[in-house]
Amino acid sequence: SLNMGKEKPQVYVTRAGCPTKGIDLLKQKCDVEIWSKPLEPVPREELLKKVKGKDALFCLLTDKIDKELLESAGPSLKVIATMSTGYDHIDVPEVKKRGIKLGYTPDVLTDAVAELTVGLLLATSRRLFEAHQEILNGGWGSWSPLWMCGPGLATSTVGIVGLGRIGIEVAKRLHTFNPSQILYTSRSDKPEAKPFGGIRVPLDELLAQSDFIVVTCALTPETKEMFNDETFAKMKSSAIFVNTSRGGVVDQPALQRALESGKIAAAGLDVMTPEPLPPDHPLLQLKNCVIIPHIGSATTKTREDMCILTAKNIIAALQGEPLPAEL
Ligand code: DGY
Repeated sequence: SLNMGKEKPQVYVTRAGCPTKGIDLLKQKCDVEIWSKPLEPVPREELLKKVKGKDALFCLLTDKIDKELLESAGPSLKVIATMSTGYDHIDVPEVKKRGIKLGYTPDVLTDAVAELTVGLLLATSRRLFEAHQEILNGGWGSWSPLWMCGPGLATSTVGIVGLGRIGIEVAKRLHTFNPSQILYTSRSDKPEAKPFGGIRVPLDELLAQSDFIVVTCALTPETKEMFNDETFAKMKSSAIFVNTSRGGVVDQPALQRALESGKIAAAGLDVMTPEPLPPDHPLLQLKNCVIIPHIGSATTKTREDMCILTAKNIIAALQGEPLPAEL
């Protein structure tokens, strides 16, 4: 054969329905096996079985990559590439310890997530879903002076928690709505904050001053449940809380209490615990909680780019070349 008798590397892809451009790239170089059901994650048992003896794993944020999985894969596994920018589903030290390469998808989703974050913020502050519901249930009596009012961005204080790639793009976009200031927390001063006049402040100051609190940090042991009874209590009672990072940064029962008691005004969540959120979950009963199903990066082009980058990460690693996006 063209491979001079050598077998092609074996790749397991944990989800059907990934954009074909990326999967086709993989198929040119590798033997590709794909879990068959597009809308469901591969069951754990199946994944543990299928990963055995594979050279590469193409996974999603719905797959837990831990010691058990790596042991099940065995020594043949050379690279894991996740079609996501978040990597809290991966035990990174366990992967590194084994010399397995790790790929992810930063940058290609930044604009899409920033756009969605702005949309979610506006949907929450201007009560779009609640207002739409009022039309459907006959609650739209007439135009009324204070009906369906909420806060505006102009002259407000915006606080961005975690000014990374996504946080910067969110801030740039919100800047065009003319807030009076944009505060941020970060481990270091960011020169990128200059164009929008971003001011780095301690978290407590951001919480106390912000009218809009936007969370764009990664989920790590340090950020886990950093939004809890204590931190919600430091926010203004008029604060709008927006989270497009990971549900795990929020102590969700504490958020529920803050929304029910009026400690904060409203929340917009693209991420939560668990995902999917059961349709009868109490958070969904709250008018001041806007919930959408983890669609931050969901533009057609972005998902295609994420898939292509994931495939390229795998191919590069298998060829012994630097990964285009290595973690
Ligand atoms: C990510 O990439 O981590 C997002 O949550 C999904 O695009």
